[in-house]
Amino acid sequence: MRVRRCKVVCFEPREEAVFDLEGLLAGGDGVAHRRRWLALAPHLGREVEVDAAARDALAELSPERWVEADVLPEPVRQVLPALLEVGLAISDAPGHAHMRARDEALRATWWHPMAALAHGLTRWSDVDTTVAMRQAGTETATQLRRLLGPPPPERIVPPHAGDAVPLPPPAETSFDRLLRRRVTCRNFDQARPLPLSLLSQVLHRVFAAQGQVRVTTDTVFLKKNSPSGGGLHPVEAYLIVRRVDGLDSGLYHYDPVSHVLRRLPDPEEPLDGLVLRALAGQTWFAGAHVLAAMAPRYARNFWKYRHHAKAYRAVVMEAGHLSQTLYLSATEAGLAAYVTCAINEACLDAVFGLDPMNEGVLAICGFGWRAPVMETMELDPQGAVWEP
Ligand SMILES: Cc1cc2nc3c(=O)[nH]c(=O)nc-3n(C[C@H](O)[C@H](O)[C@H](O)COP(=O)(O)O)c2cc1C
Repeated sequence: MRVRRCKVVCFEPREEAVFDLEGLLAGGDGVAHRRRWLALAPHLGREVEVDAAARDALAELSPERWVEADVLPEPVRQVLPALLEVGLAISDAPGHAHMRARDEALRATWWHPMAALAHGLTRWSDVDTTVAMRQAGTETATQLRRLLGPPPPERIVPPHAGDAVPLPPPAETSFDRLLRRRVTCRNFDQARPLPLSLLSQVLHRVFAAQGQVRVTTDTVFLKKNSPSGGGLHPVEAYLIVRRVDGLDSGLYHYDPVSHVLRRLPDPEEPLDGLVLRALAGQTWFAGAHVLAAMAPRYARNFWKYRHHAKAYRAVVMEAGHLSQTLYLSATEAGLAAYVTCAINEACLDAVFGLDPMNEGVLAICGFGWRAPVMETMELDPQGAVWEP
């Protein structure tokens, strides 16, 4: 059996404060500080506690060069089975094929190691943000202020800035009125289905290729209504369709070149449960008629920007641009929209069949008809959408 180290791993000496009854009874503050080593490896998607022997053994293994396991020094061989089991060491044995495949997916996608760490280890699978906010007492702005103190101020005057230069009053156009009506929607109309024509219009404006530059048959750049680093447009749209006239509810993938939807296999659980879980318990977003999960194909961007320190940042920004185009397209069509990245992307990656280190959900946009009554707060101080 030949082995090597996984491609990317960092070690963190983490310190945690734990309750210490003995210390408290002895007159202390009841807080003990415990330190332990954690191995952070993006292809695992979780932190793994390691001891000094395991950490040192990993430092002995090359991430590139395969070596026969039985020529390794004795201390490395002793901890090797445990390292192979958790996937920090990789082998060519059939029994370790799963971890080898995960590590190879990371290698094949040209991730910058720091970006891979942030991406691989900040994913959620079972978070409920509503419960978390209730427990933390941070459900309202007033509670937030009381608990956290004041935030940094809403605007700054740089200390080295000169005198204020007055600007002419902006000329108002219909675009300003459209921008004002873009209010994050947390109240969707459950009774009114979305016409297929409006779904088609929004998808076309946001995700469709409006043009193409075909360099060779296998190298094509797309032109869309939002910008994209290198014109590569790596962000795919996977849809959860809930209430659209003339379209079965279920999972779909949108093809930006032919402007068609392709049905994907139904999830095992009912859509209602999946949507609420994906939205980390945010009931106010679950009623959207359509949810668009934005999932970059990282290899498409990283093909050009290999191991690039800024590439992940650019892809995340692209999802932001698409979300704003979606907000405005929906608003212009008389609809309402939202974006959230407080999501359990792990369950969506699983139902859409995505390997998160290659292609994984970054954020969800939802859109549909706004409800006639506001039950959950929306930020509309100008009264552009709701009667003041
Ligand atoms: C990247 C991003 C993530 C967001 N995530 C959430 C979210 O998880 N839950 C939520 O209720 N709103 C979310 N929002 C909406 C913001 O709360 C909203 O934009 C903000 O309150 C300002 O309101 P407006 O969009 O109506 O101007 C998000 C917005 C952005 C840009």
